[in-house]
Amino acid sequence: MSEQRRRYLVTSALPYANGPLHVGQISGAYLPADAFVRYLRARGEDVVYVCGTDEHGVPITLTAEREGKDPQEVVDYWWAHMKETFERFGISFDNFSRTSTPLHAKNTQLFYRKLKEGGYISEAESKQMYSPTEGRFLPDRYVEGTCPVCGYKEARGDQCDNCGSWYEAYELIEPHSKVTGGPVEVRETTHLYLDLPEFSERLREYVAGQEHWRTSVKNFILGIIDGGLEKRPITRDIQWGVPVPEPGFEDKRFYVWFDACIGYVSSTMEWAQNVGEPDRWREYWQEPESRLIHFLAKDNTVFHTVIWPAQLMGTAEDGEESFVLPYDVPANEFMNLEVVVDGERRAMQMSTSRNLAVWLHEALDRFPADPLRFYLASNLPETGDVVFSWQEFQGRVNSDLIGNLGNYANRVLSFAEKYFGGEVQRPEGLPDDAVAVLEDFKELEARYETRMLAPRPREALGELLAMGRRANRFFDASAPWKTRKEDQEQTLLTLYTCSVLLGSIAYHAAPYVPDAVGRLEEFFDGPIARVSDLDELPKAYRVTGAKPLFRRIEDDEVAVAEGHLSRAVRGEAS
Ligand code: 2FM
Ligand code: ZN
Repeated sequence: MSEQRRRYLVTSALPYANGPLHVGQISGAYLPADAFVRYLRARGEDVVYVCGTDEHGVPITLTAEREGKDPQEVVDYWWAHMKETFERFGISFDNFSRTSTPLHAKNTQLFYRKLKEGGYISEAESKQMYSPTEGRFLPDRYVEGTCPVCGYKEARGDQCDNCGSWYEAYELIEPHSKVTGGPVEVRETTHLYLDLPEFSERLREYVAGQEHWRTSVKNFILGIIDGGLEKRPITRDIQWGVPVPEPGFEDKRFYVWFDACIGYVSSTMEWAQNVGEPDRWREYWQEPESRLIHFLAKDNTVFHTVIWPAQLMGTAEDGEESFVLPYDVPANEFMNLEVVVDGERRAMQMSTSRNLAVWLHEALDRFPADPLRFYLASNLPETGDVVFSWQEFQGRVNSDLIGNLGNYANRVLSFAEKYFGGEVQRPEGLPDDAVAVLEDFKELEARYETRMLAPRPREALGELLAMGRRANRFFDASAPWKTRKEDQEQTLLTLYTCSVLLGSIAYHAAPYVPDAVGRLEEFFDGPIARVSDLDELPKAYRVTGAKPLFRRIEDDEVAVAEGHLSRAVRGEAS
């Protein structure tokens, strides 16, 4: 156990509630956070892990319009779907909230008021596209026209897919509504702006002081701050979102990125209410020693390291309610998919609109959560983009999870049951080779911990596999199947040492394969603990009714899963 409990508030990016979760999202922001949190909890740290759905913004209204539904109907459906999928996958949120709750609307308006009191909000006119037939202003993504740079006819409102140019929607030639096809015109509109430049100095100081951030991330963010920050509009001419508490803004709503990160606070408050201590959220958000850690995909980094910290800083003017700033913002890269096309394996970008994705709920219909978690954790985009491959999933599960870790557990458990009636008593003393393997384990445990806390759960998994190999080597070298015939005492020494190692392996495997470790605890009675934490070696281990922890992944299962992706590439429904 750590000397002093540390306090953590861990978050995963709030997913938009407009479609199912895919494995790319899971690898970016959810599985790494969950493994990290599970480890912290096991170490006895004080940690609260929150998330929820991001229910505002254009992604939601576009889906609703496409499906002819009310936005509320869309988000209600996907909130429930996501919550269930996360549960099936073993993501252990302490609370999974949503941003369409009254509490969240109240918080967003409170943040706004504090920022206004601090003098960080101003009003300004801007030009926006207006659709006279629809009687509303259109967000950029609803507008299409001819690119002012290259003449491409189907250019989007903010960027041309053909030549890559960025422009204002009103610069498009013959702009029209993407929804109705009707013409759109430029109109003046008033919006509220967050005065980001006012925070430049404090932001620079904050980012520069983050010694534990990766240099590349730090320099990237410092570059953005030094490049000059601009005031950012925080309202939109839309009807779906948190209402703006200002006269004249009745027909406008807050921009989704103004309220999204506040969703982390709202979710923590909801958690505190649910545990019956409504004020406890403050311990995590307002006590300076609390570590706020946001897991996300890299395209969300700037929001969490510049704009969100500014929002937090700007609400702290009265000195009473000062919020902690993000301690770390672990950002992951992207995941591509391996697809078999005409017998050839190719890495392709996921495309949710073409159904070219591995949807988590479908993957869970085919395979248990543990092997999926194990494979994804072994392939997290921690340092660069990765490729998801069903073939590699099979290979890693069968050889590493089963061949290394599962096999070790089986060998120890079945030997203990078969030859010792499941009773493995502590021997008088340990011989040198047993002491050596326990020492090696302490070193591996320390390496694992450093990597897990970095947080680099993929690298930590590498150390877990090293533990499995070391333990298997010890079992092989001790050859209990031979010694049991001539030296019962020696065999007990081996089995006892192997049980201690199994307890450590299970402890370190739990963040990745929690179900399996839960089942192991039903038939393996002895501490699931780090060797380094055992002040005294336990008196005995007991094994009753052990069963294999995992099942192999078969070729035909992989072929079926791959077939779905191949059909998506060919544009066939599956
Ligand atoms: O990019 C996204 O999917 C956003 N919904 C992430 C929001 S993270 C945070 F702000 F809530
Ligand atoms: Zn163009």
